[in-house]
Amino acid sequence: MENRLVSEILNLKNEKDAIILAHSYQPPEIQDIADQVGDSLQLSRAAASTGSSVIVFCGVRFMAETAHILSPGKRVLLPETDAGCPLADCIEVQALRSMQEMYPDALTVLYVNSPADVKAESYACCTSANALEVVESVPSDEIIFAPDRNLGTFVSRKSVKTIRIWNGACRCHATADMENMRAVMEEWPDAELLVHPETPPEVWELAHAVLGTGGMIRHVAESCSQRFIIGTEEGMVYRLRTLYPEREFRTGGNIYCPDMKKITLQKILDSLKNLGPVIELDSEIRKNAYDAVAKMTEITG
Ligand code: 13P
Repeated sequence: MENRLVSEILNLKNEKDAIILAHSYQPPEIQDIADQVGDSLQLSRAAASTGSSVIVFCGVRFMAETAHILSPGKRVLLPETDAGCPLADCIEVQALRSMQEMYPDALTVLYVNSPADVKAESYACCTSANALEVVESVPSDEIIFAPDRNLGTFVSRKSVKTIRIWNGACRCHATADMENMRAVMEEWPDAELLVHPETPPEVWELAHAVLGTGGMIRHVAESCSQRFIIGTEEGMVYRLRTLYPEREFRTGGNIYCPDMKKITLQKILDSLKNLGPVIELDSEIRKNAYDAVAKMTEITG
């Protein structure tokens, strides 16, 4: 059954001039068929540079929207329209405008895990891979950082700028199970613990390094350790095992994103057959959001 689905997807993908992009939190069978698996920054770059006319985005809505913002001439498909992100949904335009009125001298740096109409209201976007670099580069000493409070706190501890932090969080990272994390550390005392900056500061205190998903991959490449405990969404463990089959990886903290798992092989096949559901945005919102996303790519190359 799975083999039949995979060969139908691969045939149809060529026929429809499509590329399949998948975030590292996607289930194994989807990572296996993707043309590119990556973090949110790599995937937005891939969307901007692909020659294919159709992008099948295996991730959550804000990621597919970012692909559309950067590649308006392409058809961006999100195989499951319900694949949302509670962190992105915790901020909306009017509330951000009220915060901007409170701090009129601040420039807004918005984590890409946010809706397109809110991106359109911000100065620059960032991902977990480049949040500090973007904050340091924007021309103001006062920054509104939204919507993730943990990433905002992480950045503020490393920056001398005044950072006004929005009080939002990723439901699965913010509730990382510390007891499980400690138990796994006891079982693997020689392992390095790598955690995502969306986890709370008390988790960072246990960790060897606090990194976005792309940073975790680079860290393992450079490390001499054999074992790693991964404090981010469990899909990342499959990604790391694929890249480094000679090393050992385990999850720590029971971090699981139900939205990421809404994409299935059958939905990808249906999406290629119907060339839908298509991501569409109001053109004014897309243009203003483009400016904020492009500012990030200008800053970080
Ligand atoms: P990365 O930018 O590290 O891929 O993280 C994406 C994300 O959505 C984390 O919850």
